[in-house]
Amino acid sequence: MELHIYKDAQAVSTAAATLIAARVIGQPDCVLGLATGSTPLATYRRLIELYRSGVVDFSRVTTFNLDEYRGLESAHPQSYHHFMQENLFRHVNVDRERIHIPSGNGDEDAVCRTYEEQLAQAGGIDLQLLGIGRNGHIAFNEPADHFPAATHIVELTASTIEANRRFFDSAEAVPRRAVTMGVGTILRARAILLLAAGADKADAIHAMVHGEITPRCPASALRLHPNTVVLLDEAAAARL
Ligand code: GLP
Repeated sequence: MELHIYKDAQAVSTAAATLIAARVIGQPDCVLGLATGSTPLATYRRLIELYRSGVVDFSRVTTFNLDEYRGLESAHPQSYHHFMQENLFRHVNVDRERIHIPSGNGDEDAVCRTYEEQLAQAGGIDLQLLGIGRNGHIAFNEPADHFPAATHIVELTASTIEANRRFFDSAEAVPRRAVTMGVGTILRARAILLLAAGADKADAIHAMVHGEITPRCPASALRLHPNTVVLLDEAAAARL
């Protein structure tokens, strides 16, 4: 695990966008794993700028998102389908046929199985972008007693529901279940780029870097991955 510490969240985002753009330029048909949450937003804004200025072309890129709430239609303003559309996809030239986000509806087993099959058919993920939850979750892999190997359905924890309620009218409106790539799915990516900014991530980052490798802190599994880069601002790195 390689750590880089930047002055602020903006510098983290600029560095992340630069790394992603370099990947796409060097491997135009790469498979990108994408994340939602507030952390990658400025990275996506910078990638849009790089696209508009002709630096990067997404036309041959394939994307796979980490996760989706269960029970929200794709058009719901808080669905991750909608988030990706609004914050990245509609602003760049990604081929709509090459965009993959697990479905928030339909038979749960079929959704999970199909997603893993699509990932395998695409040849796996070249570069996976990640944020981190305050409890150390990655994607929607919550603290658990094992590392889930593949895409699966989860019950969200109270901590995650509370953290994500800011996007909904009330805590009651936050879906209780989600579909997510497993920790195993994420570890199969050939490269991983985790971003974190802000003091509310400092405990999770400390546990990820210095704590025990345990499914109680899902992000700690990234220490087992041979090619993980972590970009932090000073606030998120404060406890290292
Ligand atoms: C959600 C997402 C995660 C994300 C986390 C942190 O739970 N499923 O992928 O990393 O939120 O979000 P934020 O970046 O808004 O702190």
